[in-house]
Amino acid sequence: MKRKLKIGVIFGGRSAEHEVSLVSAQSVINALDKKKYDIIPIGITLSGRWISSNNAIKILKNRKKLENNNEKILIPDPNIKGLVTLFSKKLKIEKIDVVFPVLHGTFGEDGTLQGLLELADIPYVGAGVLASAVAMDKITAHKLLKFSKIPVVEKIWFLYRNFITQKKSILQNIEKKLGYPCFIKPSKLGSSVGITKAHNRKELVNGIELASKYDTKILIEKAVKKAREIEVSVLGNHQPIVSIPGEVIPSNEFYDYDAKYVDGKSKIEIPAKLPNKIIKKIQHYAIMGYQALDCSGMARVDFLVEKDTLKIYLNELNTIPGFTSISMYPKLWEASGLPYSKLLDKLIELSIERYNEKKKLKTIYKPKAEWYK
Ligand SMILES: Nc1ncnc2c1ncn2[C@@H]1O[C@H](COP(=O)(O)OP(=O)(O)O)[C@@H](O)[C@H]1O
Ligand SMILES: [Mg+2]
Repeated sequence: MKRKLKIGVIFGGRSAEHEVSLVSAQSVINALDKKKYDIIPIGITLSGRWISSNNAIKILKNRKKLENNNEKILIPDPNIKGLVTLFSKKLKIEKIDVVFPVLHGTFGEDGTLQGLLELADIPYVGAGVLASAVAMDKITAHKLLKFSKIPVVEKIWFLYRNFITQKKSILQNIEKKLGYPCFIKPSKLGSSVGITKAHNRKELVNGIELASKYDTKILIEKAVKKAREIEVSVLGNHQPIVSIPGEVIPSNEFYDYDAKYVDGKSKIEIPAKLPNKIIKKIQHYAIMGYQALDCSGMARVDFLVEKDTLKIYLNELNTIPGFTSISMYPKLWEASGLPYSKLLDKLIELSIERYNEKKKLKTIYKPKAEWYK
């Protein structure tokens, strides 16, 4: 019989989306096939401490004081490939075969954790360092998508520090080029944290002040009229496949944090009711966007579609989408014929495939002479 793979599921983290991650991780842990995998739950607290135990999710949810013996960290030395226990007299190592990062936002979805996993030389699910970092930064992602001729909403961006000194001209420029209503967003966040919709100058200024609490770079976007929120799931490395589209019907004026998680009144519709031609276009742009950002493993690609004209805009790519049992990413695959736990198998397979492919590349160069001596 084949040895069971040890899967390190990492969750929590120093992120505004910490709580969402805990819920996603619980679903992933429940659905992973216990006949194939041994699961090692690894929680990162809001202050960045790492703990690993079977009740790590509970400990993080209750914000309990940590017991020292739970603290285990992943170290960058590729000779270890696993967790090392802190504060123990003897060196204890727990090997990990594959990491499944179920973290959203900063220090988890933005390439930083992926960088640690590259150093540690452990295969991991989802996008690599570059795609994670780029997809997280809405301004940089926008530039790449635009360069690839994928339709995106018109944007203006600036550094908050420049806004302080050039307030009048920046506001005038926004009003001239974009007008109201417009959306104000911190460049790197998720779950709608720090995002507002402005209908006038006062709201615009307040929105910029709010966004500046989360990021030094701010972007302003023209609002898509009566925007429909259409999402598709993409899966794969070099030959990604795309699911049927789903539609989110938010309970609030837009799909803000409360509408996403708190009030439970937003609805999802699978498949989204759209003409076939539009679905094909959305699927085409989703794959193009996935490749433009150099994604691998998975991404949920979100679109805004203008209700009356059905004009399509690619809004963003999420390299670690929500994974709760009612989340769109796994739901769309279920509806496309791939059940949740099979999806997890596939993601693990893809992570190993990518790892093996990279492993074949040379990272060391042996010069003809020892000139450096
Ligand atoms: N340009 C826009 N026009 C209309 N609605 C928008 C626009 N940008 C964002 N929204 C609304 O705000 C929500 C959150 O914005 P999004 O860019 O997806 O940020 P996040 O990464 O936090 O999910 C979207 O789901 C949508 O409801
Ligand atoms: Mg979004």
